[in-house]
Amino acid sequence: MKIRPLTGALGAEILDADLTDPDQFDAIRQAFIDHSVITIRAQSLTPDDHLRFARRWGDINVNRFFAALDTHPEIAIVLKEPDQTGAIGEVWHTDHAYDQEPAMGSILYGIEIPEVGGDTVFCSMAAAYDALSDRFKSLLDGLHAWHSSRHVFGASQSKSDASRTGRVGNADNATQDALHPVVIKHPLSGRPGLFVNPQFTTQIDGLTQPESDAILNMLYDHCQKPEFQCRVRWKTGDVTMWDNRATWHKAINDYHGHRRYMNRITVQGGPLESA
Ligand SMILES: [Fe+2]
Repeated sequence: MKIRPLTGALGAEILDADLTDPDQFDAIRQAFIDHSVITIRAQSLTPDDHLRFARRWGDINVNRFFAALDTHPEIAIVLKEPDQTGAIGEVWHTDHAYDQEPAMGSILYGIEIPEVGGDTVFCSMAAAYDALSDRFKSLLDGLHAWHSSRHVFGASQSKSDASRTGRVGNADNATQDALHPVVIKHPLSGRPGLFVNPQFTTQIDGLTQPESDAILNMLYDHCQKPEFQCRVRWKTGDVTMWDNRATWHKAINDYHGHRRYMNRITVQGGPLESA
């Protein structure tokens, strides 16, 4: 197995690995802790293989909103057809931030990949935090922020392309709100990192909306520096797993007229602690 870092901030691609081999799991787990995003190239997995690999990490978190495989309700479908315009996950976000115990990681398996386009971009929340000034870090110390699924998956989104085409549903289940520290101590690495994101975070607790917006928008601008990012270019058979407590991600929707089909399994996390 070869592990090649993608950038100085985060991400690694793993070559010559086999996710069905339990003896390789410890090395893959260590790469995940070290790099936060791992792309394991050239796999050939059945849905049962995908599930077996996911269960080595912990319990499965079944997504409430995504369409799932008929045979495997734990496996969400991430799909864009040639005639569809909206992709799932175009806004920078962290999966399941609105849960009381946000998901540990998401494991995405590329089944049909366009020839060009459809990359996924990731941002390191630890690298972004490290680059803040000490004065700004002390301003964030002890703050908590609210996260919600309501404005993303609730009734107000029923006219979105993903909702109209049945890829996202269950708007009545979009009732989750959760309060998390703005700066968390990462459960695996112990590294401090930001835990707010442009899609699901609604307000810093105890601040007015304008005060909260000013701080959050400043952080969002700061996080979008390319120095904190890596970009995964997919090929059919690749598996990318990312740590939702250490990263943001964004789907690049630049492959109109082509089909992109992936299966996703989400692994349950635990409660988050302040740094
Ligand atoms: Fe996502």
